[in-house]
Amino acid sequence: MSQPKVYITRPLPKAAVERIAAHCDVQMNPQDAPLEARQLSEACREIEGLMASAVRVNEEVLEQAPRLRVVANVGVGYDNIDVAACTRRRILVTNTPDVLTEATADLSFALLMSAARRVAEGDRYVREGHWREWLWGLLWGTDLYRKTLGVYGLGRIGKAVARRARGFSMRILYYDTQRATPEIERELGAEFVERERLLREADFLTLHVPLTPQTHHLIGAHELAMLKPTAYLINAARGKVVDETALAQALECGRLAGAGLDVFEEEPRVHPTLLRLDNVVLTPHVGSATSQTRLAMAMLAADNLLAALEGRRPPNLVNPEACA
Ligand code: 8YV
Repeated sequence: MSQPKVYITRPLPKAAVERIAAHCDVQMNPQDAPLEARQLSEACREIEGLMASAVRVNEEVLEQAPRLRVVANVGVGYDNIDVAACTRRRILVTNTPDVLTEATADLSFALLMSAARRVAEGDRYVREGHWREWLWGLLWGTDLYRKTLGVYGLGRIGKAVARRARGFSMRILYYDTQRATPEIERELGAEFVERERLLREADFLTLHVPLTPQTHHLIGAHELAMLKPTAYLINAARGKVVDETALAQALECGRLAGAGLDVFEEEPRVHPTLLRLDNVVLTPHVGSATSQTRLAMAMLAADNLLAALEGRRPPNLVNPEACA
């Protein structure tokens, strides 16, 4: 019997490729570069499985992929995939939760600390040769100790960030559409508050929600105006959750003290105002970018893909309706 054909959209770690290749006929994009829609459609023509990393899988692509049975996203967020269109065609969609929780929480916290203590600014100051003598008034930042962390979205990553914040003696407030159990609240030392109170009381507001039609521009001019002028916004979730123009304006006019951003509305484009502001720390969507985590993501996506192709239920199925 011939093996199912699989396409991998990025050069993933060898161990993951080998795991798939033991059961499938594999083709892989050798470049760590985005595929154009036309190239992706072309690559999908004969395949039954797609390992999707940072590609948009929409109707146009699916139309060209009559044999496709599974889209294994190498990432936890799957806003890049038209899940409804996949479900209509009975194509399974899977993602990679859990394995990237700690790495993404680490980066969120790194952004928070860098923004609070002006780490990136200090690095530029030294490299650019401005440091001639020690100054009492140089690069004053703000304490984390006993400050209030507002966690917007207490899912896996939100909880992991709250755990880190406990170690820094921060007060933790959170808001989510679903309240956590008393056990979880106690473990995290986190207090549930209404959305408005979260915005008004946070010294650091950290976002941990998926991108959906409901969370698009969740933080806009109106919400930014509710934040303290001394507050910092941290976003390692999805760029479109924040109205970037409104954020740039708030930061520029001092309505907000600072921000740490790993994600942007139109990646890799960053709002030009953000690029020239010193009170913003910017990283290029690297929340899960550690060698251990990227390997674990690729292996989990491979497991999901193989399970689907073998007719088993994948461990991280996003659209169970598709197999009904
Ligand atoms: C991925 C991410 O690198 O998992 C996610 O949701 O944002 C990142 O870990 C990205 O999805 C590209 O595959």
